[in-house]
Amino acid sequence: MPPTPAPPSIGDHVDRADQSTSPHTTAYNGARRVLTGNWVGASTVPSRSLYPHQWSWDSAFVAIGLRHLWPLRAQRELETLLAAQWQDGRVPHIVFNPSVPLAAYFPSPDFWRSSSEGAGCGAPAGTETSGLVQPPVHAVAAWLTHRADPVASHQRGFLRRVYPRLVAWQRYLTGARDLGGHGLASIVHPWESGMDNSPCWDPPLARIDPVGSDTFHRADLHHSRPADRPTDLDYGRYVRLAENYRDHGYLDRDCGHPFAVEDPAVNALLILSEHALAEIAGALGRDPSDHLVRAEELTTALVKRLWHAESGQFLAHDVIADEPIAEHSAAGLIPLVLPGLPEETVRALVATATGPRFGLGVSTRMVPSYDLTGHAFDPARYWRGPAWFNVNWLVERGLRRHGELALANELRANLTRLAASSRYAEYVDPVTGEARGTRDFSWTAAVTIDLLAEPPLPAGGLLPAPHHAEERLVPASVPVPVSAD
Ligand code: SER
Repeated sequence: MPPTPAPPSIGDHVDRADQSTSPHTTAYNGARRVLTGNWVGASTVPSRSLYPHQWSWDSAFVAIGLRHLWPLRAQRELETLLAAQWQDGRVPHIVFNPSVPLAAYFPSPDFWRSSSEGAGCGAPAGTETSGLVQPPVHAVAAWLTHRADPVASHQRGFLRRVYPRLVAWQRYLTGARDLGGHGLASIVHPWESGMDNSPCWDPPLARIDPVGSDTFHRADLHHSRPADRPTDLDYGRYVRLAENYRDHGYLDRDCGHPFAVEDPAVNALLILSEHALAEIAGALGRDPSDHLVRAEELTTALVKRLWHAESGQFLAHDVIADEPIAEHSAAGLIPLVLPGLPEETVRALVATATGPRFGLGVSTRMVPSYDLTGHAFDPARYWRGPAWFNVNWLVERGLRRHGELALANELRANLTRLAASSRYAEYVDPVTGEARGTRDFSWTAAVTIDLLAEPPLPAGGLLPAPHHAEERLVPASVPVPVSAD
């Protein structure tokens, strides 16, 4: 009897014709379909169901993928987000779509009330946003987007228009948000890390009195398994912190932030963005040296303040308790993406990524969000163990930058394979690759496109080019539109 054919495991939502091609082509086409489906006219939703508005760092990663398909759409993605920037420079973590019903997402615009409560910080009058921020990947995304089609970018004045906004965004973080007084930016809510439910936030969150779970109605549990999501107790604390910020007019100087943490990933991305601003300044004929000096100063502060040699990684610092948070998360590996780190720091980060805590190339297929040996490790729950695709894209970029090509190639292969087999899941079990969270997730598709795109686009010195010239991951026959909007 002939063997029963295995059920399709790669891209089971793509059409039959796609399945006859190579896994790379299938993964690429499936990712393109996700980005096409999640585009809503001037931006991309992270997920049609779970996240039906525009999210800040999601849009930056989305642009990094979109630029390979539709460079003008990638520009538009970033422009739409930056149009909602507050006058104090903050780029809000959510820009709400007024046509989406309030009940579709919690906390909804009537919770944040940005246009009224944020008026003192210069929140836009005609757009509702949250009052929090997310990691600053935007200058990186803008530079990479520009490089995808420099002619169209120049004709549209893309860099000239976004540059002042990106500078103001960085200055908000290094100014009003330097709560520790050491030059690094602090986050004031776990959502600002983008890694909402990380065990790193458990110690500082334990000081926060949660609001009752009967005072709010979560929408996320309609779209995702409760075991994959934060608990009601977590949400009670998230809501308390957000309410406190709102009730102080989102004014950092008045808020007395009860939660303030220097996060290594946020600060590494801030530094990488400063390098991107140097590239952008150069392309605009300006002197880039101010950005390069800032990048160097921030890198020195990052290493001095957050590096822990005994852990072999960076740790978050609790600014209020003034102590390091003794939890090991993938955020502490993200600085690997930076140039200018001490060589022994790079070697230690690679050893930690491949060691028992993260198991890369040994026990895991992608870097888990949290320490495999940690007391709170959970392979399913939001940011407490599963592997995220954007985080692993950053790790891949870092490994490649520092010459760890075998590890980078293996991670890239695993990432693109698991993206397709998980139906572009929001996150996956780092050992089994089983899909978690929601599916058809935009940044999962976007970073997959970026790692598979052919021909490779120049990275402009900011990040290593995705491929070596001799590699062809996607056959040349796959059409890659370069200018359609
Ligand atoms: N990621 C958060 C959520 O789950 C907030 O941005 O809604």
